[in-house]
Amino acid sequence: MVLFLINWKLALMSLCILPVIAFVALRLEKQIGKTFEEISDQRALMNTTAQENLAGVRLVKAFGREKHEIQKFLDQNKENYRLNVNQAKIWSKHQPRIEFLSNLVIVLVTSIGGFMVIGGGLPSVGTLVAYTGYINMLIWPMRMLGWLINVLAQCLASIKKIDALFCEEPDIKSPEKPVEPEGREGHVVFDHVTLEANGMKILEDICLDAKPGSTVAIMGATGSGKTSIINLIGRYYDVTGGRVLVDGVDVREQNLELLRRNTSVVMQDVFLFSDTIEENIRFGSTEISQDTLVQASKDAHVHEFVMKLQDGYKTVIGERGIGLSGGQKQRISMARALSRNSRVLVFDDSTSALDMETEHQIQQSLESRTDETKFIIAHRVSAVKNADEILFLEDGRVLERGNHQSLIDRKGRYYDTYMLQFQGLLDIHDEEAG
Ligand SMILES: Nc1ncnc2c1ncn2[C@@H]1O[C@H](COP(=O)(O)OP(=O)(O)OP(=O)(O)O)[C@@H](O)[C@H]1O
Ligand SMILES: [Mg+2]
Repeated sequence: MVLFLINWKLALMSLCILPVIAFVALRLEKQIGKTFEEISDQRALMNTTAQENLAGVRLVKAFGREKHEIQKFLDQNKENYRLNVNQAKIWSKHQPRIEFLSNLVIVLVTSIGGFMVIGGGLPSVGTLVAYTGYINMLIWPMRMLGWLINVLAQCLASIKKIDALFCEEPDIKSPEKPVEPEGREGHVVFDHVTLEANGMKILEDICLDAKPGSTVAIMGATGSGKTSIINLIGRYYDVTGGRVLVDGVDVREQNLELLRRNTSVVMQDVFLFSDTIEENIRFGSTEISQDTLVQASKDAHVHEFVMKLQDGYKTVIGERGIGLSGGQKQRISMARALSRNSRVLVFDDSTSALDMETEHQIQQSLESRTDETKFIIAHRVSAVKNADEILFLEDGRVLERGNHQSLIDRKGRYYDTYMLQFQGLLDIHDEEAG
């Protein structure tokens, strides 16, 4: 406004260049924004490679893959370098243009304004100096626009990623009006359940009625759908056909948090935190009394080895503490599940790293717990033979079902597995005797 008051012709002339600067700045934003997104993706890839190599350093060393992994990281670094150079090139192409145009305004104002002072178009040199001062005030933010856009483009690339993460909606949500079962007893029913993922059938027509307190064992080859079955009880996936009922109510109608609190799972991949053994068992739950903790630890055969440790349950494990054997880790995660007051217990291949004697003892402890319904996935017949019902899966379907004796009498796949494992033991016995 002041510029127009001083001299409208000069103001119009100098303001004509501003849209050109804005245009160049917008083009810079468009091009540089894309490169920042690429750089951000590349950096994520590099971080993943570095993190995986540090976490899996033993595997890398055991397989002598050091050179390959170093080369992989170097290649990713090179790509990161290329993208950064690319971004610098775009910047170096556009920023001088913005600088040039900004300075052009000053040059034009000074020269044309100078002529105007001589010709009498402007009252005095002082007016021109004042005018230049004002135009500088206007041009300065324009000049900074390039820098601003550079920072903005970086922020936008990051915000896009954060936003995508925050906007991610879980597929499985608690219903708005959940139905609460009349009593929590641990009665699990599978009613003609089918599960499909990516167009592939994972489970087909699974029927099951696990009465409260009973034990259901699931066997089958790797990839036959054992984990998928038990994932449906705590509704980690939704069925694509049929329904799963826990205590008489479809799991999709139940409050998710309460349902999962009532289902304790020992996952196939044991995960423990770098914390004390006690905290790993409690896992943030303050409701668990010391007696319950010790009882669960005894049932899972954790107590005996913990007592041998100098700091007992306060021993820190993991990265910040002592290392544990695979079987010890499995037992701690079992104690975690047993210490909860859940009516449904799920053990997904949780005794695979244990010797047969410890496995047998844990099995006996589990059998003595009659308040909970137990699902046991195992590969060894010895771990499942006392179950009330054994399901033998093949390609997502129940191939055979029944208790140990009926399946042995049937002389099917279960019988074959039993004979294979039993024969193995007999061979060892014969070798030792011979
Ligand atoms: N989220 C998923 N998306 C697509 N396919 C899946 C998914 N989870 C499992 N599968 C597939 O379903 C099949 C059954 O997997 P599942 O984990 O239930 O097998 P499993 O019997 O537990 O095997 P294992 O004894 O090796 O643990 C496999 O072919 C697997 O690739
Ligand atoms: Mg599994």
